[in-house]
Amino acid sequence: MTKLETFHLSDNSINGSIPCEIGNLVKLIMFSLSDNQITGHIPHSIGSLTKLETFYLYNNHVYGLVPIEMVNLTNLTHLDLSNNHLFGNLPPNLPKGGLLQSLILAENNFQGPIPVSLKNSTMLFRVRLDRNQFTGDISQSFGVHPHLVYIDLSFNRLSGTLSPSWGECLNLTSFKISGNKISGQIPHEIIELPKLHLLDISSNNFVGNIPRDFGKLSYIFQLNMSNNHLTGTIPPEFGGLSLLEVLDMSSNNLRGEIPIQLENCIKLNSLKLSGNQLSGAIPFQLGNLNLHDVLDLSHNLFIGEMPQQLSKLMELRELNLSHNKLVGPIPSSFQSMTGLMSLDLSYNYLEGPVPGSHFFQEAPLEWFIHNKGLCGQVHGLPPCHQSWSTSKGDEEKQHINHYLNCSFDMWHFTYLIFDNWNICIALL
Ligand SMILES: *[C@@H]1O[C@H](CO)[C@@H](O)[C@H](O)[C@H]1NC(C)=O
Ligand SMILES: *[C@@H]1O[C@H](CO)[C@@H](O)[C@H](O)[C@H]1NC(C)=O
Ligand SMILES: *[C@@H]1O[C@H](CO)[C@@H](O)[C@H](O)[C@H]1NC(C)=O
Ligand SMILES: *[C@@H]1O[C@H](CO)[C@@H](O)[C@H](O)[C@H]1NC(C)=O
Repeated sequence: MTKLETFHLSDNSINGSIPCEIGNLVKLIMFSLSDNQITGHIPHSIGSLTKLETFYLYNNHVYGLVPIEMVNLTNLTHLDLSNNHLFGNLPPNLPKGGLLQSLILAENNFQGPIPVSLKNSTMLFRVRLDRNQFTGDISQSFGVHPHLVYIDLSFNRLSGTLSPSWGECLNLTSFKISGNKISGQIPHEIIELPKLHLLDISSNNFVGNIPRDFGKLSYIFQLNMSNNHLTGTIPPEFGGLSLLEVLDMSSNNLRGEIPIQLENCIKLNSLKLSGNQLSGAIPFQLGNLNLHDVLDLSHNLFIGEMPQQLSKLMELRELNLSHNKLVGPIPSSFQSMTGLMSLDLSYNYLEGPVPGSHFFQEAPLEWFIHNKGLCGQVHGLPPCHQSWSTSKGDEEKQHINHYLNCSFDMWHFTYLIFDNWNICIALL
């Protein structure tokens, strides 16, 4: 079929390997066998298809090296070989013609450097090299790509620093480089990208402070900087990120207080700040957010009481305040957080009764261990009446009754910590 221009058999159940006679179809412009069960190698004869613009083999079981002859495909605009078993180095001048718009090689076992010719590919629109073993200095691999919208280089072994020239990729909306060995500071040029809505630099070796200009990323909705070596404080300018839905800065070396300006991030759905050295009280303003998913403040140095206002997060799924220095009671209003699936309060200095709702009573003991004196019907905790009444006089029993009453309606009571006893006094 030497006149064939389009060969499109994607999404079938074809198996076997690509015959080398494919090289006879010299007029081919579009070749797709994606989503089949193709095995074997990419034949060397592919280099004869010099008119080929689109080559899709994604989601198959193709094995081996990318043949060097592929550099002959100078008209290639869309190449997708993702999710196969390809390995080895890519030919260094792979997208030779400079017309390449999308290069999707994710989920293979490619290794070695990212082809140098990518640096000159000014037409690039979408790049996915994630989940391979590419190595080398990322600052040498890319240039200025004015059309680039989406790039995912996550989970490779890339090193080096982020070049300021990323700041000239003005159409970039998604930038993902998670799980590499990239170091240095976050260049503020990136933070000036006008259309950026997803930035994931997590699990790398970034150092330095979080640039204050982050507040300029007005379109950002997902920001993941977790698991780096970032220092300094969380800039109050984060409050300007009014579209932000996901913020993950866990496992860094951040210190200082949570800026109350975060309450302006009204779309925020998930907030993870665990594993830092953040201090001060937990701002009660966090209760004004729209968190549906996760609030994780664990492994920090937070002091003071659990703010009652957090119980306004009725739809929150997961709350983790463990490994802090929180004191006082668990506000009984937390019973109204009907969305909760998990609530870890372990390793604090909390005391008093665990609220009586079904959710709390069925909770695993691990959520409450290593506190100062929690009691209640949770399996493994001392029941409140026993721990408070054994060998105590009537007067003290009075206190206990008082105490238990308080726990039912804590909005109207405040606690005084007196000689290891919680005594509540009506404010009315
Ligand atoms: C690829 O191009 C080179 C010249 O650049 C040529 O020698 C070679 O035969 C071509 N390969 C194929 C398979 O067409
Ligand atoms: C990139 O383009 C420049 C000028 O067009 C050229 O001198 C250089 O050799 C090219 N680099 C690569 C890696 O193709
Ligand atoms: C941030 O990235 C890490 C991987 O580096 C991942 O485990 C974590 O789930 C991400 N956070 C969010 C909120 O998606
Ligand atoms: C809460 O966070 C700690 C430390 O960050 C973690 O070890 C623990 O598993 C988390 N708890 C839950 C219930 O996920």
